[in-house]
Amino acid sequence: MPESVLKMADKRLRAIVDLVPRCRCTADIGADHGKTGTELLLSGKCDRVVFSDISAPSLEKARNLIFEKGLEGRAEFLVADGLKGLSGSVDCIVIAGMGGQNIRDIVLNGKSEAGDAELILQPNTGLSHLRRALTENGFMICNETVAAEDRRYYVIICAVRGQMSLDEAEILAGPVLLKNKNEVVRQYYSHSLETAEKLIMELKQSGADHRLEKLYWEREIWKAALSG
Ligand SMILES: C[S@@+](CC[C@H](N)C(=O)[O-])C[C@H]1O[C@@H](n2cnc3c(N)ncnc32)[C@H](O)[C@@H]1O
Repeated sequence: MPESVLKMADKRLRAIVDLVPRCRCTADIGADHGKTGTELLLSGKCDRVVFSDISAPSLEKARNLIFEKGLEGRAEFLVADGLKGLSGSVDCIVIAGMGGQNIRDIVLNGKSEAGDAELILQPNTGLSHLRRALTENGFMICNETVAAEDRRYYVIICAVRGQMSLDEAEILAGPVLLKNKNEVVRQYYSHSLETAEKLIMELKQSGADHRLEKLYWEREIWKAALSG
């Protein structure tokens, strides 16, 4: 068994690592603790990793982990905003654990630096906005998965350059997830339905109904996703 920095409970990071293709070089943007990139090196999935973070103290954590594991010969460190400073020679770019709007801005502002790299994106919020922005800006979603950790669900999206149009159900529930409803995806849809129903009840009681129409519509999409 190769050495690992991930524990059994690290389902989110494990799912991200699993989606990275075997490749020469991956960039871990917003690397912070550096576990994702370190695991990619330890597992042999990537020959090299560029660790980048907008915060120098955050990047220091990744640097410490890499030196602790003796992997400094295969790593590069950048303090940079988004994809700035990437040389264009990376095969894959991981952007995880941030808000969807931040990820969208990083991707759209860094299109030239990204080149043809595959994107592995894990937004904590704003999934629909991110899917819409990707498909309206020359990317297609080629894979999606859901990881369940600590009673939370994390959707991970893989995107490459290309054209794709999505209907509104696919924007909300995910074009690939809708076609691949495994047990975790079903649990995620069920949780999303419960959340929508709870919010509908709360908004009805408070009399604040301006968001209700959208929530009714979302509830129907979650129900349809679960029924198929
Ligand atoms: C919550 S951590 C996520 C760490 C890791 N990627 C993960 O998924 O567990 C978010 C990291 O993203 C960094 N970050 C936020 N905005 C950024 C940007 N525009 N460019 C680069 N890094 C950014 C933060 O400094 C922080 O270290």
